[in-house]
Amino acid sequence: MPDQAPAPALDPAFDRYAVFGNPIAHSKSPFIHARFAEAAAQAMRYEALLAPIAGFAQAVADFRAAGGRGANVTVPFKLEAFALADTRSARAEAAGAANTLLISEAGIHADNTDGIGLVRDLAWLGAPIAGRRVLLLGAGGAARGAILPLLEAGPCELVVANRTRAKAEELAIRFSDAGPINAAGFDSLQGSFDLVINATSASLSDAAPPLPAGVYAAGALAYDMMYGKTETAFLTAARALGANRLADGLGMLVEQAAESFTLWRGVRPDTAPVRQALRDMLAAS
Ligand code: ATR
Repeated sequence: MPDQAPAPALDPAFDRYAVFGNPIAHSKSPFIHARFAEAAAQAMRYEALLAPIAGFAQAVADFRAAGGRGANVTVPFKLEAFALADTRSARAEAAGAANTLLISEAGIHADNTDGIGLVRDLAWLGAPIAGRRVLLLGAGGAARGAILPLLEAGPCELVVANRTRAKAEELAIRFSDAGPINAAGFDSLQGSFDLVINATSASLSDAAPPLPAGVYAAGALAYDMMYGKTETAFLTAARALGANRLADGLGMLVEQAAESFTLWRGVRPDTAPVRQALRDMLAAS
């Protein structure tokens, strides 16, 4: 007698997808993709898989060998996911990181849907980018992934501001061919902006980048890529600086997932019911 019952056979009618991260237990991606799959009548299952910190590539190889068709990738594996892929989309190249893998017999293709998820959420919120002055705070992975999709949406100027100004300057040089982009430090910001996006991780430590008075134009939107049960420190600070439109990153989470789902399945899911369900879940947590 074996000590363990054999693993139940997977139903081959169901394509397998997963999100890899470490930690991963609190990921909302399985919830989101299960709702998308149900609404779009897709025979798929999507699970959260904890990859060991030093074992991401092996975890992806095992998943592929077991029939995995695609994956999302989250902290801390987005750079490794980009590196291990056989081919990469232009937007993954621009971000230098991947949050989405498409797995086929031909190999592993890396994509990045975070930036387009942000742009789609801004559209959903009714916050135009075209012709507007946009301020992006931060110069880490989250900021870098947003730059190309933001520039493609046609702002009159995109200013990247970072605590360590040199990193913002590097990004402005890297993306200078893609549109009107400039760099600044928080203390050298000039004029007001129609849209201010926080891509720093400051909200994780309940801090907000120190922005000058007058940074928010009349009717400006303050957008935090982070979200939580309570208002983030950045949004609280934005309100104090006079921003009267505030949004957190829950919609971006849903929209980046919808982009990944569309890549895998060729069907675009309706995001509105999932946005509402997640908002309700967060309020009840
Ligand atoms: P991510 O992948 O989330 O972008 P990251 O690559 O570690 O994470 O980048 C974190 C970003 O948040 C950086 O721009 C960092 O600024 P520095 O480059 O100066 O380190 C920014 N950041 C983190 N904590 C901050 C704080 N308390 N105030 C302002 N910026 C902060």
